[in-house]
Amino acid sequence: MQITVRAPASTSNLGPGFDIFGLALSLYSVFTFERSEALQISGCPEAFQNEDNLVLQGFREIFREAGQTPFPVKLHIDAEVPVARGLGSSSTCIAAGAAAANAFLGSPFAKDELFQICARFEGHPDNAAPVTFGGFTASFASDERFHALRMPLDQNWKFAVIIPDYEVRTADARRAMPKEIAVKDSVFTTSHAIAMIEALRSGSEELLAEACQDVLHEPCRRKLIKDYDSVRASAKAAGAPAFFISGSGSTMIALTKSETVAERFIELVRARHPNFAGHVLHAASDGVHVETK
Ligand code: HSE
Repeated sequence: MQITVRAPASTSNLGPGFDIFGLALSLYSVFTFERSEALQISGCPEAFQNEDNLVLQGFREIFREAGQTPFPVKLHIDAEVPVARGLGSSSTCIAAGAAAANAFLGSPFAKDELFQICARFEGHPDNAAPVTFGGFTASFASDERFHALRMPLDQNWKFAVIIPDYEVRTADARRAMPKEIAVKDSVFTTSHAIAMIEALRSGSEELLAEACQDVLHEPCRRKLIKDYDSVRASAKAAGAPAFFISGSGSTMIALTKSETVAERFIELVRARHPNFAGHVLHAASDGVHVETK
C-alpha cells in the first residue's frame, strides 16, 4: 500500500490575529509513504533523514493515540514549503505524517481529532487548523480542546510572499514577545482582529489597510528580520494595502487584490534581494489531502 499526502503551506497571525488566524496557501509539499523493513527517508536534506523528522513524529503520534505500535516506513518528501521561514512547515509535516498514519490504520480518527493531535503537538493551533481544514481559520482553546472556525474569505486576495534566504526560529521569535501587555494594546488587537475578519470577508482593501496593524508581536519581531524595513518599503512603493510578517518570520507577505501590485512588490524586493524567493499565492481551499494506492 502506498499513501501519498499533499499538505499546504500556511501563514498565521495575519497582523493582529496572533496565535488565532491561519490561512492555507497554494504552496504544497507532497509526502509518499510505504511500509518498509527499516526507516528510509529521501528527498530532504540529510539532517532530516532520521527518526527526529517531524513527519515521522506526526506519524508516530497517531499510532500512540490509537494504542498501536508504529512500523518503519519508506518516506519520500517533495517539499515546496520551506523550513523555518514562517510558512507553517512544522504543521505541514506533522499533519502529513498524522494523515498518513491515520490512513494506514484504517482512518480511526476524524479530521477534528487529527487537528486536536497536531495542534497539541505544536502547542498552538493557528497553523494546524488551516493545514487540516484549508481556507482562512480562526482558532481558540476551550475546555482543553482546540476549536477551529472556518471564516469566510473573498477569493480575490493575492498573497505576495517574500521568503528571505535566512531563517527565524519560532522559539526565538516567541521569546522576543512581551510577557504582559497593556489593556489599550489588548483593545487595539481585538478590535483590529475583528476588522481584519470583515476586510478579508468583504474584499475591502480600504478596510484591510486600516485593520492590518499589530502592536503585539511585529514591533518586537521585526528586529529579528534584518531586511524587514526594506521589504516593507517595497510593499508601500508597490501600493499594497497590507503587509505583515508570516507567522514568526522570516517570510513577509504583502496582501492585495491586484495581481499587478503583487508582482510589482516581488520585482521591487528581488531587485534589491536577488537571493530571496518570491511567489504570488492564493488561499488554498482544501487542507491535507490523502490518496491511497
Ligand atoms: N503564531 C505562531 C507565532 C506561529 O507567531 O509564534 C509560528 O508557528
